[in-house]
Amino acid sequence: MAVTPFSVWPLPRPYGSRLRGLAASPIFFPMSAATVPAPPRDYRAEFPIFRRSVYLNSCSLGALCTRSRARVNECLDLWEQRGAAAWYDVWWEALASLRRRYGLVIGAPPGTVALHSNISTALTAVAESLDYRLRRRVVVTSLEFPTVPYQWLAKAGEVEVVVVESPDGISVPLEAIERAVDGKTALVATSHVFFTSGAIQDIRAVAEIAHRRGALLLVDGYQAAGQLPVDVVASDVDFYCAGGLKWLLGGSGVAFLYARADLIGGLTPRATGWFAHREQFRFDPRSLSLHADARRLEAGTPPLLPVYAQLGGLDVVEELGPAEIRRRTIRLVEDLIDQAQWAGLRTKIAARPDERSAIVMLTSDDPAGDVRRLADASIIADARPGHVRLSPYFYNVADDHRAAIERLTRD
Ligand SMILES: Cc1ncc(COP(=O)(O)O)c(C=O)c1O
Repeated sequence: MAVTPFSVWPLPRPYGSRLRGLAASPIFFPMSAATVPAPPRDYRAEFPIFRRSVYLNSCSLGALCTRSRARVNECLDLWEQRGAAAWYDVWWEALASLRRRYGLVIGAPPGTVALHSNISTALTAVAESLDYRLRRRVVVTSLEFPTVPYQWLAKAGEVEVVVVESPDGISVPLEAIERAVDGKTALVATSHVFFTSGAIQDIRAVAEIAHRRGALLLVDGYQAAGQLPVDVVASDVDFYCAGGLKWLLGGSGVAFLYARADLIGGLTPRATGWFAHREQFRFDPRSLSLHADARRLEAGTPPLLPVYAQLGGLDVVEELGPAEIRRRTIRLVEDLIDQAQWAGLRTKIAARPDERSAIVMLTSDDPAGDVRRLADASIIADARPGHVRLSPYFYNVADDHRAAIERLTRD
């Protein structure tokens, strides 16, 4: 047991080796303030991983649902039976449908979403559209997933990257961001949900700060879209990217970039591809004339199998809806925190419940070892420096938390 216990926690720890035989008894579990309601229908049955595992790692990779597998099979059948002919109608429409449906998840108007294969290439479209000659500063925070700062660190010389430090490793004060954004700032690029603390950032407030100085705001929403209701228009963000890997249940290989409608026409990326061309089937090697809508920010042929996996995953996310998903994950997160703290574990979480997303960090002096021990018991979690990271989603139940905490606190 390497997870660091919270030394001043007043309640007796229920899972020491002394009590191991009793640990499974419900009498030894806390009366959680959060009663976790049953999902509205048996979604868990649609995620076969739960037949053999306790899955608590959706912030790394959302669980595979049967609908994604069925859609991927449909795509393979089309490939087998129709070959390239499937492009002419079905596959083309699948891409258009995914752009629309990603847009609905984040409240984006039609024509403002471009498809990408990962966040890095989506960021490239933005990074290569900006003019750094008069505004050479890009502001990020120390809590970003590195794919965000790397995009601009790669432009050292042309761009000055300013990293705003987090004082507690959980969130970043708005005043600190405000101090870093000046009249020479081209862009603030930051997360909606921080990947190592789960804290939700007030992106509306960050947008105000950026815009006051004439800068743009790009939000990395990979840890937010799906698990939180997102409204890019109400939040007044300029760019928002996310994708299938995590909370949107699409797996790897598919991501998207939203750009504010009134910005799109003025963006001319210096890195591009034939999907950005407004008449791509003229195959004209002499002129590049970009789409008027957000497709001008796309590049090459999107990967069809991930697109189909994502369409299947979105069926579930849309059916439940982000508001219902959020209602459920709030209760799950409360329950997980209650159980962990009652068992004497130290948590690294945002102070205010409304700033917490479905990522819960447990302090550990051997996170990799703890995650291995959990995996040996078929409990899938994740390690980050100094922490075990657990991320319940709508398909989880309180018993999943119980199993993980019991395993982590057993000697
Ligand atoms: C917040 C966040 N952004 C981006 C990424 C990944 O970026 P990319 O798609 O470039 O691999 C991750 C993790 O996979 C993440 O947690």
